Amino acid sequence: ETIEWDPEQAGKGEFDHFMLKEIHEQPTSLAQALEGRIDPENERIALSDFEPGTFADVESVQFIACGTSYHAALYGSLALNQAGIRSTALLANEYSVSAPPVDDDTLVVAVTQSGETADTLNALRQANAEGATTVTVTNVVGSTAAREADQALFIRAGPEIGVAATKTFSSQAVMLLLLGQCIAADHHGEPPADLEALLPELAAMPDAIDGLLETSEADALAEQYAHSQSYFFIGRGLGFSVALEGALKFKEITYEHAEGFASGELKHGPLALVTPETPVFAVFTGEEDEKTLKNAEEAQTRGAPVIAVCPDDHRAVDVADEHLSIPETAPDLAGLLANVQLQLVSYYAADLLDRPIDKPRNLAKSVTVE
Ligand code: G6P
Repeated sequence: ETIEWDPEQAGKGEFDHFMLKEIHEQPTSLAQALEGRIDPENERIALSDFEPGTFADVESVQFIACGTSYHAALYGSLALNQAGIRSTALLANEYSVSAPPVDDDTLVVAVTQSGETADTLNALRQANAEGATTVTVTNVVGSTAAREADQALFIRAGPEIGVAATKTFSSQAVMLLLLGQCIAADHHGEPPADLEALLPELAAMPDAIDGLLETSEADALAEQYAHSQSYFFIGRGLGFSVALEGALKFKEITYEHAEGFASGELKHGPLALVTPETPVFAVFTGEEDEKTLKNAEEAQTRGAPVIAVCPDDHRAVDVADEHLSIPETAPDLAGLLANVQLQLVSYYAADLLDRPIDKPRNLAKSVTVE
């Protein structure tokens, strides 16, 4: 008697798809990313590759990346601006035609899961040639980006098989927050004011995601809004990058039309698209939430169902048509919890539509051509 054994199925364990498995791995992958790097008791971050003072001369930061990594870069860049350091997130494939000038005191951070994306490597090479100090934030030790940047920071997420990036986004965003805190501390000569409050919340992230995964109602929600015309995602501040990532994930694996917008931008055009057939996912991160709620209500008035992604006691819960719950956390981290709910919505929507979730048509895990 022989036992049928499919190595691919075995790799997925109890899950139907690698994507779902990788979504559920986030408590572990984040704990690995944080291991030995944060010390909440002593209010310290220790990135062993970077001695304190490494970034003392950094005046501005350019992040370069593509796809989901670009959204993590945007997350890191917005947080760094909030910490008082000039920074921009740039699409790597636009860098050769429109890079801002690089000075001696510019740090260029290439964010790439694989470390092999051609567009990102080209931009990294350009920054190196122009004399910038370069760092790569990557998942792959020994990757081209890790070898060619001056220094590498590894996100330690473990292999990601699903073409749609999930656990690596969370780990990238968290590593960029840590890197940003180090840059801000070196630049200002003292730790950022909110570091003390941030570190325990960071340490609690694995448990927070665990709890969210156990209680998520994203499957029922995906079913409720299946067969809509378009799916919109809005957010403000760090929540804006999460809105972009939510929409990218949705279009990648469901093949349905999805767009992410800055909440305040809805009234400057996208509102023309809003109908009862266009659910709007509103991400609340504690950054001017009242304004985001007003923007969501403007869509609701035009008939769009609004799904609020926020903690249970948030005012948006009463206003919105539906609610996806996230645990209370620091404003810098709320968007990452919201993102996990949005990953689940995309996954279950794609599953209902019977899409080949782990290998969407026309997409590759790593794009090594320009
Ligand atoms: C491809 C993948 C995306 C990924 C992007 C950047 O387009 O399909 O999921 O975000 O490349 O990849 P990287 O390895 O540079 O993060």
